[in-house]
Amino acid sequence: MRTLGIETSCDETAVAVLDGDGTVRFSLISSQAAAHAPYLGVVPELAARRHLEALPRLLAEADRQAGLRSIELVAVTRGPGLIGSLLVGTCFAQAYAWGRGLPLVGVDHLEAHLVSPFLNLDGHPARPLPERTLSLVVSGGHSSYFLLDPGGAQPLNRTRDDAAGEVFDKVAAALGLGYPGGPVVDRLADGGDPRAFAFSAPRIKDPRGGLDFSFSGLKTMVIRAAQERAALPLADPASPPQVVLDLLASFRHTVVTWLLAPLDELAERHRPQCVAASGGVAANRELRRRLAAWGERSGVEVLLPPLALTTDNAAMIARAGQLRAARGRLDDPLALRAYPRAPWKRMAS
Ligand code: KG4
Ligand code: ZN
Repeated sequence: MRTLGIETSCDETAVAVLDGDGTVRFSLISSQAAAHAPYLGVVPELAARRHLEALPRLLAEADRQAGLRSIELVAVTRGPGLIGSLLVGTCFAQAYAWGRGLPLVGVDHLEAHLVSPFLNLDGHPARPLPERTLSLVVSGGHSSYFLLDPGGAQPLNRTRDDAAGEVFDKVAAALGLGYPGGPVVDRLADGGDPRAFAFSAPRIKDPRGGLDFSFSGLKTMVIRAAQERAALPLADPASPPQVVLDLLASFRHTVVTWLLAPLDELAERHRPQCVAASGGVAANRELRRRLAAWGERSGVEVLLPPLALTTDNAAMIARAGQLRAARGRLDDPLALRAYPRAPWKRMAS
């Protein structure tokens, strides 16, 4: 079914059109980052209002470039996310589907990140999901490994406090590097020495055998180390002193090391056909590099989404919607409910 995807869970308004086989025909993301930058984080009220302004514009562009007349299914993010932002997207999609008499499917945002590594932007169909994928979702709100199969996904661990992307954002904010922090820290870290600083790993009491993450202690250590060595916020954020570059390189190196730490054990336990990563932090250059190297070492295929599909986008929403609709899981356009928090243990899609 040719599908229109709509994503508004946080601060990116996105619309996409996919053919029935998952070929991405159109994917447009309108970022609100500049509007939120002065506040160093997303302002929920502002985000909701911006979504409302952006959606009609994006839809008109989708119609111009891909044609919306042949759409057969509408997919929209239901949650988790900012409730005001989600409501704008779901109400918009409900009205659109109802007005045109099209079927509607509500999609979980995480479920969508999980299918993003199987999409491409080269005009080819989406890859079918293998029997078992070990999949790391790592974004501003999540840091978890999942076992993904064609019937759904099961979380294998979680973060006890901050998500990895959130920690990139908070460290960057404390140093005066702006928002979002991940991309700028990633870029600056390339100019530093990742061995310059060593950070102690958190000790977590974990009945599941020490697989959970914890990043908030690292955030505090990095900010404290920065305060001891430079005046914050940095006077010239565009070219920080070498010691700050070394600190950021060591910080990025530590986050990636901790994210990859459970990989051997999880791969041993679950014997996946492939390992994937998704979410905004999956754009991180060191993570991509080291994950690819792990794949070569261990002989397991590693799948990463194209860079443009790591952060929030609507192509992944449309694809998750197609897979859900194929299992007959449609929603009533007059009764779709958005939810701010993840409601599941096993995500049966
Ligand atoms: O998936 P996403 O767009 O939104 C959520 O669902 O959270 O992820 C956004 C997060 C932000 O925290 C951002 O700083 C981080 O992804 N991010 C990165 C990079 N690019 C984006 N973190 C590290 N390195 C990057 N290159
Ligand atoms: Zn996301």
